[in-house]
Amino acid sequence: MNRIKNTLFFALIFCNLTVFAQKKQIDIAALIGKMSIEEKAGEMTQLDLGLIANGDVCNLTQPQSINQAKLKKAISQYHIGSFLNVGCGSGTISRENWQKIFAAIQSETKNTKLQIPIIFGIDAIHGNNYTIGATLFPQQIAQAATWNPDLVKQGYEVTAYEARASGIPWNFSPVLDLGRQPLWSRFFETFGEDVLLANKMTVAAISGLQGDNQYSPYHVAACMKHFLGYSMPLSGKDRTPIWLSEREMREYYLPTFQTAIQQGAKTVMINSADINGTPVHANYDILTTLLRNELGFKGVALTDWEDIYKLVDMHHVAATKKEAVYMAIMAGIDMSMTPNDYQFTDLLIELIKEGRIPMSRIDSSVSRILTLKYELGLFENKDTQTKYPLFGSAEHAAKSLAVANECITLLKNNKQTLPLKNKKESVFVCGPGAYSLNYLNGAWTHTWQGVDTNFNTKNKLTTLAAIQKIAGANRVAYALGTSIDQIINIDDCLAKAKNADKIIICLAETPSTEIPGNIDNLYLPKAQEDLVIALSKLNKPIILVCTFNRPRILKNIIPLVDAIVYAYLPGDEGGKAIASVLFGETNPSGKLPFSYPADANSLLHYDRKYAENINVDFSNKGYSPAFDFGFGMSYSNFNYSGMVVSKNTLNDNDSIQVSVVVKNTSEMKGKEVVQIYYADLVASISPSVKKLLAFKKIDLAAGEQQTITFQIHKNDLSFINKQLKRVTEAGEFDLMIQNETKRIYVN
Ligand code: GLC
Repeated sequence: MNRIKNTLFFALIFCNLTVFAQKKQIDIAALIGKMSIEEKAGEMTQLDLGLIANGDVCNLTQPQSINQAKLKKAISQYHIGSFLNVGCGSGTISRENWQKIFAAIQSETKNTKLQIPIIFGIDAIHGNNYTIGATLFPQQIAQAATWNPDLVKQGYEVTAYEARASGIPWNFSPVLDLGRQPLWSRFFETFGEDVLLANKMTVAAISGLQGDNQYSPYHVAACMKHFLGYSMPLSGKDRTPIWLSEREMREYYLPTFQTAIQQGAKTVMINSADINGTPVHANYDILTTLLRNELGFKGVALTDWEDIYKLVDMHHVAATKKEAVYMAIMAGIDMSMTPNDYQFTDLLIELIKEGRIPMSRIDSSVSRILTLKYELGLFENKDTQTKYPLFGSAEHAAKSLAVANECITLLKNNKQTLPLKNKKESVFVCGPGAYSLNYLNGAWTHTWQGVDTNFNTKNKLTTLAAIQKIAGANRVAYALGTSIDQIINIDDCLAKAKNADKIIICLAETPSTEIPGNIDNLYLPKAQEDLVIALSKLNKPIILVCTFNRPRILKNIIPLVDAIVYAYLPGDEGGKAIASVLFGETNPSGKLPFSYPADANSLLHYDRKYAENINVDFSNKGYSPAFDFGFGMSYSNFNYSGMVVSKNTLNDNDSIQVSVVVKNTSEMKGKEVVQIYYADLVASISPSVKKLLAFKKIDLAAGEQQTITFQIHKNDLSFINKQLKRVTEAGEFDLMIQNETKRIYVN
């Protein structure tokens, strides 16, 4: 009897769930059935806030406010379904003001027949950079340098929480393009050059932003971007042609997107550039055959900024905007980030009425957009009652500081110059990076390019202020010396540095993003190099602190300094983190997520091919970066020993356990990233000299040792073969941890 009861009970549950699921689809299908062509076209249109606010589109009246007439046109006349950002990135907004803006939009939506809620998307790239007082984190490249996915996930959870606190349910983040072209102006927005490390960070970002993919007032829709290959322009200049074989695309530039889709990423933003001559926004093979049919992505595909129009005026593959709209929608675009006019909407309506775009194609996009809004709770307007007491809180700032502390990478430390333990020692601080929060945050900070100083978060310390706070102002002399690229007054530096025991020079780079090419090579601006050279003549210990968007060439100054602290773009807490490392309150544990080029044209990657090892003298030392991928020093010493493998053959559905003993032989507790690499000795595709296989970040007290184990499976050793299939070929492999190597045989 019980069995029958249980069966009936589960059958009932199943029916309810099916009805509920169908109810959701039936609701949306029913809603679509009531929508006019104009309402559907509006749903597929995203406009910038500038189009419904007071002031000019890209120069809004501050503080931003809704223009009722413009709003009426957008919502009631054009049925626009989505808005984004702050008027071409023209300035950050208070939470209170965001709430006023959304209330105005909401009330206008209530005046429409179907009352479909709009969805607002934002670039919350390293925290909610467009909400005043929000917690700003280190940029993605710095997050990757922590090699600590759990910590990075917490940062994305804070970002999601504070986005919802601003009334925003959709974040155009994370960037999943691989950072393999350091010339590219958006290198800092990537998780670095390695697929495995970027994949681990992808899981952290998507799960941090989206939670368990169920509705939550503390999570948002992520937007994996920019699909795909966007980070590899041949020239290094943003949005210029990408030449990518399908094999290389699948080996390097597709995996993070596959991972994000497996994690349930709800939306994707498309690469603005062309790959092998076809703009991705017009590429059916990528946007439908690959993204939908092969990868099974069910979410919303959003264009990047004005990229449908750019099919005409940048790529010249469409003679008119109308043709461009046709090409993009038929290729697989769901929503156009138009974002500054109504032409897309008008042209789409024409194309639908002419029957050139079938209604089934439109309905599939509208269904995805409405499903996204439904899953985010927008139809029920659920989270207006939720409170967000932790917004901009000390607790959230502590998480940002934790990420900043763990990203900082110690690249050089001769004669144990660091940490600065001697409290009697005086220091002299100079260089542009010492004085600016903007140089710690980079682009996407309160304004698009991040160079405006008016909106900086209150009470955050520059590197100089943080050093003064830890060391005591009386021990710290300072002078600027140079701007980013101009000498200001080096003599003043020399005069003050003469009386100091140690010299700290803070180098920096102008914040920028998306600039087609704001540098012609990776060399440092000459003024900053001259500052280091001049101060080196004093023969005092020099500590270099670098906050760059990408690895600028240091070859002329590395020999002149005793220590190098590489801090990437460490965010609002970056000054504190840098000072904390300099004075030993934090033991640095960051590791480079990229190969640091020795010179402007030595752009090699650690996972190079054997042919790239060949040097000018035909020796095998051709790969000689300034600093290697995965490198970073600690104030502790970690001794590796006793690497063992559980067996040396690996079969299908099998695994090998690899273990190694790591001991902290110093007096200072510290974190270490234990990394295991592999080499496929012979393969049908020329194999890499080494590839990251796995890593674990551990914490070791002074004198403590731990045995670290990795479970290796056959598929972990796979690559994309000539038939574009992911395979692991039989043969010999080397597994390497630090200086130990074990040979295994894959059957
Ligand atoms: C920009 C960027 C993209 C950003 C979008 C909205 O052009 O390429 O990363 O999310 O426009 O600002």
